[in-house]
Amino acid sequence: MIAFFLGSHPELSLAELRLVFNKKELKRWLGIALFDIEKEEVSKQFFALGGTPRYGTVIAELDDKNGIESELLEQLKASLLSEKRKEYILSLFGVHVNKRQFHHDLKLQLSGVKYDGKFEEAQHSPAVSAHVLKRGGHEFSAIAHDKKVYLIKTEQVQDAQFWSIVDAERPSRDMKIGMLPAKLARMMINLSGVTVEGKIWDPFVGQATIAMQGAILGIPVLGTDKARDSIEKAKQNMSWLVKKGLVSQAKHWLYPESIEKAKPDYDITGIVTEPFLGKPHFKPFSSEFLAKKEWQIINRLYGTLLQIASRSLRKGQRLVFVKPVFAFLANNGGRWYNPPLSASSEAWKVPELLKDLGSLLWVQRDNVVGREIIILEKR
Ligand SMILES: C[S@@+](CC[C@H](N)C(=O)[O-])C[C@H]1O[C@@H](n2cnc3c(N)ncnc32)[C@H](O)[C@@H]1O
Repeated sequence: MIAFFLGSHPELSLAELRLVFNKKELKRWLGIALFDIEKEEVSKQFFALGGTPRYGTVIAELDDKNGIESELLEQLKASLLSEKRKEYILSLFGVHVNKRQFHHDLKLQLSGVKYDGKFEEAQHSPAVSAHVLKRGGHEFSAIAHDKKVYLIKTEQVQDAQFWSIVDAERPSRDMKIGMLPAKLARMMINLSGVTVEGKIWDPFVGQATIAMQGAILGIPVLGTDKARDSIEKAKQNMSWLVKKGLVSQAKHWLYPESIEKAKPDYDITGIVTEPFLGKPHFKPFSSEFLAKKEWQIINRLYGTLLQIASRSLRKGQRLVFVKPVFAFLANNGGRWYNPPLSASSEAWKVPELLKDLGSLLWVQRDNVVGREIIILEKR
């Protein structure tokens, strides 16, 4: 059994896992999801995931009762026994164990064992976990849930440095038009189900955040945008990827074209995009009425996207896009206006595996325009 530690937007991370592994989790609580998948299968796919900072193998599922310390100790001992480097860190969630005593006992029973006691937080940051794993050490998490304690041994951690490079170092960045976070772009591609044999179309390519993530996964991308200067910036970002050595080649086509005039490309196997989200706003709308008015201005563009996508995609292929949600001020504080979408149920359906999930929102602190990720499958 594999335990995935879900990212900052757990519903989205879960949706990504379900579609990538084509199954539902066995159990899920807060930021953890347990899946019945082989470790080898996960290790092949882990690099591709955007929403999972780390995963591990469940090495023991114990009853949560008095005296759990000794059982945990046995499990840890058994796991470290076969390891060359007996250095470990341990996170505890809802399990009450005296870490110092615990380590002392383990040390008595297993020679050479070292607890990296500098890391005392309940959950180590991925950077700390990565640091320990890189040195050949190990990370364990004991998590209490529903009268059980799951002991998890971390297998892999997301490469934080890679994500900060693609997000922050690309040459063309325009904060004014709002850039999609790179990890969200990656998740959207995974939600589309497009593989290296297919081709993604981003009809609002902007500065190529989605196209770059496609290229990193080896997926050919067509990017169009009505603004000529966006296309120039998109091109710069794509060639930077190759120059930086993040990909050996990026198969892509970028040219200016508005969605209304888009010519059909029959090689496309999925559409992944973030349309215009409205004029940049730095403060919440002062009323729901004004938030609704903003949606009225841009909602036609979303209608056009649905129409063109419906003509371009074939049965089973997906359209994944961002729809804005707007913060507005109400009597009792701030609220969100989540605009309705009129996607014809004759043309589109929600993928079976996602039907029980609610709105997939990506909202960061201080955002006044948030993002809802819509995933539609062509009927
Ligand atoms: C929110 S931005 C996309 C940003 C992009 N996801 C990124 O991270 O760089 C929306 C883009 O839609 C383009 N756009 C607006 N109306 C359009 C239309 N009718 N057809 C094609 N592109 C359009 C704008 O030029 C802008 O680049």
